[in-house]
Amino acid sequence: MKIVIGNDHTALDMKREIVRHLEERGHTVINVGTDSPESADYPIYGEKAAQLVAHGEADLGIIICGTGVGISLAANKVPGIRCVVCSEPYSAKLSRQHNNTNMLAFGARVIGAELAKMITDAWLDASFEGGRHQRRVNMIMDIEKNGGL
Ligand code: RB5
Repeated sequence: MKIVIGNDHTALDMKREIVRHLEERGHTVINVGTDSPESADYPIYGEKAAQLVAHGEADLGIIICGTGVGISLAANKVPGIRCVVCSEPYSAKLSRQHNNTNMLAFGARVIGAELAKMITDAWLDASFEGGRHQRRVNMIMDIEKNGGL
């Protein structure tokens, strides 16, 4: 798969670990994050990564800031994006199976690299179950499209 990765200055080491992990799993990684330790604004990188996913230039996206919160909020403002912020693998897995998330976020100041890899694997190895979950995901997308249900 083609996976885009975005990050701010808090997540340089974590980004490197995750990129290596993804490449070891055979994925192609597109890096749109910062590689400088200088303070940077996470919405820039959340949006950049989200646009690639929304336009089909990447299959999925992984984004990292200090908490994962700000960057996921930014990504979720891009139409078509369903980004989950996770600190454990269970929610990551279920977010794919039930919510068809196309982006994953975590916090470099919240979890360590090994847990981030477990979360990433749980997320990538799961797939959308459809059925009743499709109806609910459609409702989420209707809110986005029409401003409400
Ligand atoms: C940067 O200090 C920090 O605010 C950012 O990385 C992130 O945690 C925001 O949600």
